[in-house]
Amino acid sequence: MSAWTLVYGATDPAREGAREALCTLGNGYFATRGATAESTADAVHYPGTYIAGCYDRAVSTVSGHTVENEDMVNAPNWLPLTFWTGAGEWFTDAEGQATGHRTELAMDEGVLHRTFLACDGEGRETLVHQRRLVSMDDPHVAAIETTFEARNWSGTLTVRSALDGRVANAGVPRYRALAGRHLRAEGSGGDSGDTVWLRSVTEASRVEIVFAARTRVTSGPAPAASAVDAREGWIACDLDVDLVQGRPVTVEKVVALHTSRDNAISDPLTAACATLERTGDFADLLGRHTAAWVHLWRACAVDIGEEHDQRVLNLHVFHLLQTLSPHVGESDAGVPARGLHGEAYRGHVFWDEVFVLPFLSLHFPETARALLRYRWRRLPQARAAARRAGLRGALFPWQSGSDGREEAQRLHLNPRDGRWTPDNSHLQRHVGIAIAYNVWQHYQATDDIAFLSAYGAELLLEIARMFAGLAAYDEATDRYVIRGVMGPDEYHDGYPGREEPGLDDNAYTNIMVVWVLNRALDILRLVPSPRRQELRERLGLDAAEVARFGDIARRMHVPFHDGVISQFAGYGDLAELDWAAYRAAYGDIRRLDRILEAEDDSCNRYRVSKQADVLMLFYLLTDDELSGILHALGYPHSPDLFTRTIAYYLDRTSHGSTLSAVVHAWVLARDDCAASWRFFRDALHSDIEDAQGGTTAEGVHLGAMAGTVDLLTRCYGGLRAYNGVLHLAPSLPGELPHLALGLRYQGHHGVQLRLHGGGVEVAVPPSALPPITVEANGRTVSVPAGGTGRLPSRDAPQRRNGSAH
Ligand code: BGC
Repeated sequence: MSAWTLVYGATDPAREGAREALCTLGNGYFATRGATAESTADAVHYPGTYIAGCYDRAVSTVSGHTVENEDMVNAPNWLPLTFWTGAGEWFTDAEGQATGHRTELAMDEGVLHRTFLACDGEGRETLVHQRRLVSMDDPHVAAIETTFEARNWSGTLTVRSALDGRVANAGVPRYRALAGRHLRAEGSGGDSGDTVWLRSVTEASRVEIVFAARTRVTSGPAPAASAVDAREGWIACDLDVDLVQGRPVTVEKVVALHTSRDNAISDPLTAACATLERTGDFADLLGRHTAAWVHLWRACAVDIGEEHDQRVLNLHVFHLLQTLSPHVGESDAGVPARGLHGEAYRGHVFWDEVFVLPFLSLHFPETARALLRYRWRRLPQARAAARRAGLRGALFPWQSGSDGREEAQRLHLNPRDGRWTPDNSHLQRHVGIAIAYNVWQHYQATDDIAFLSAYGAELLLEIARMFAGLAAYDEATDRYVIRGVMGPDEYHDGYPGREEPGLDDNAYTNIMVVWVLNRALDILRLVPSPRRQELRERLGLDAAEVARFGDIARRMHVPFHDGVISQFAGYGDLAELDWAAYRAAYGDIRRLDRILEAEDDSCNRYRVSKQADVLMLFYLLTDDELSGILHALGYPHSPDLFTRTIAYYLDRTSHGSTLSAVVHAWVLARDDCAASWRFFRDALHSDIEDAQGGTTAEGVHLGAMAGTVDLLTRCYGGLRAYNGVLHLAPSLPGELPHLALGLRYQGHHGVQLRLHGGGVEVAVPPSALPPITVEANGRTVSVPAGGTGRLPSRDAPQRRNGSAH
C-alpha cells in the first residue's frame, strides 16, 4: 500500500458505512458513496449519490411538533450492477457468495478498484474485477467497468445494470423518524437495448434529475440477448453474455447525469442522452479523468514524507477536492459540513468554510470565489433575516441550504434517551464572522481587488453593519454589549435559570466583531472610489453608521474572570465539572451535552466546552492582532494572559467536534509542540479511524480534513500572504523534518515551497509573470519566474500566525 492507496479486505459490517464514506468518488458536481454496485440500502450498506446544491424540503411530525427540514437529496442510485450465473439468486455480496474481497482506492487517479471471487450455489466460481470512476474531466459522467472471468465453468452469465430512483434519505439513523422521501418517479425509457434512462423529480423543489446509462460488452463476444425491464422508479438493462472458462469478458456501464439546475442545457433528458452519446468508452474516460486528477494534484500536493500520515493527508485533500473541485463553480453550492459523502447535518452549510477556504484560496482561488459567491447570492435572504431581527445588514443563517434561509433545526434528538429537546444553535450569529474572515483572507492571499470590489466588500460591509446593530450601548459601563447569542461551543446555549436562550458577550463573537468592523473600515478605504461610492449609496451606508463602526471597535465589552478571557459574561460563576468522575463513568465523554441531558442535567451549569470557543481567537488572529484589539479596547493583553487563557480552556474542553482538534493543534503550536502534534494527529485520524464514535459513515468531516492541510501550510509552515509578499515562518515539529507544498500565488501556478531545518526554498515555474517577493526569517528575496530562491533558517523558534493585515 503506497501513500496514494487505501486498501480494504473482507467486508466488516460494523465498518462498512465508514468505508463507503471514505471510498466515495466525486467531482464537485456530484459524488457517490463507495457502496458495492450490487448493494441496496440495508443495515450494512448505504449507496448514496448527492448532487452539489440539490436540496428538497419535507414536513414531518415529531413529539407532537411539526418540523420542516431541507435535505441534500439522495439522488437515484446509478451504481446497480449485478449478475446471475443461472443458479440461485442475483449476486449480492451476502456472506458465502464471495471470497477474496479487496477494495482499493487509488487517490492519485480517483479510481475505486474492487476484486472478489463470486461462487454460486452450484460451485461455479467467477472472478470479478471492477473499476469505478466519477469523472473529474466531465462532471456529468461516471462509469463502472467490470471484468468477469469464469474460473471453473462455461455458460451464460446475465448482467443486470440498473438505475434506481426508489431511494430515500435514510442514511442517518437518528433522522429516520423524519420524512426522507424526496423523489418522485417521472418516467424511464430505453432504446437500442444497451441504453436506458430514468427521470425523477424532487417533491418540493421540483428539481428534475435524469440519469442515462449505457451498458456494453467491450471485450469478449457480443451479448447473446439483451432486454430492458422497467418498474416505477427503476429501469434495468439485462445482457446475456457467453462466458468461456478462463476467458475474461468486460462489461462497461457509462452513466450521464443532468439536472434542471444545470447551465447550458435545454432539458435534463436531452442533455443526459447527448452527453452519453458523445462520451467514449471506459478507457477514454479514464485517460481524461486521470489527467484531470494529475492537474489537481499538481496544484496542491503537500508532502511530509512519512508514509502513513502522508496517506491520510492525501485522503483529506482527495475528499476536499471531490466535494469542492473547480466544477463547484457551476453549481451554486456552498461548503457542506460533511462533504457530498453522507447525510449528516442534511448536507447543510455551517461556518466550517472558515477551515476550508484558506486552503482553497492558496491553491484554487476560483473555487474559493465560487463558494463566497454562494454566500453573496444569498444576501437578500440574509438581509431579510436581519430586518426581521430589527437589524440592518445581513444576518446569515447558522445552517444554510438552497435559498439561504435558516435551516437549523429547532428540536434536537438525544440518541441516549430518545428525547427531543429545543435546539437553539441558530443563535450562532458568529457564522457571519466566518464569512467576513474568508472574504478578507481571500483578498490577502490573492490580492484580488476586483473580486473584493465586486462581491467581497458588499458581503463584509453588510455583515459588519448587522453586528454593529446587534451591539447595544450600555450606558452604565460605557461599553457595547452583544446579548442573546451562542459562541462556537454548542454546549452552552443559555444561563441556568434564565428562560430566554442565548448568552451575553461571547468573547469570541465580541472580539471578532471588532475585527470585522475594522476590516469594514479598511475596505471602505481600499475599494476604488467610484465603486466605494456606489456601494455606500446602494447600501445606504452613511457617515454616522460608519462612525458607529469605529466607536464600537473602541468600546466593545470583553468579559474576564480569574485572570483569563471569559467565554461569555458569567462563565466564571458556573460550576466546575468533575471530569474524572464523568470519564470514569462514561469513558467517552465527547458528547457531554447528551450525557448530562440524559441525566436531567445541562452543560449550561458547568465550565465545559464542546470545542474551541475563546481559543478560536488565537486560531484566526495573530497575537499582535489580538493584542492590538484588546489594547484599543483598554483591556490587558500580555502574553501571560494568552498562555493562561489557552491552558484554562484546554482543561475544560471535551473535543466533541473534530474542528476542536484542528484549533487546538494550531493554538498549542506556540508553546507546546508535542501537544500540538498530538492534536494534529487526532484531527488527521478523525475520519480514517472514525474517531468520533461512528460518525464517518454519515459523511466525512470536511472542516477537519481541510484544517489538517491548512495547519501544515499556515501554522507549521507559517505561510501568510499579504501586502504583496509571501511570508514564511516555518516552525516544524520534530516529527515533521520537512514540508513541501505546491501553491498558486500572484497568478503563478505550481509555486513549489520546500521547508526544512536548513531554511526555505521557493521555486517559481517559468512564465512571463513578474517575480514574487518572499520573506522568511527576516530576509527577503525576489524570485523570478523560472528561478529558485533560498532563505536560510534562523536559530530562534518562529511564531505562528493566523491571518494578518
Ligand atoms: C460543530 C459545529 C460545526 C458542525 C458541522 C458541530 O458538531 O459543533 O461547529 O459547524 O458540527 O460540522
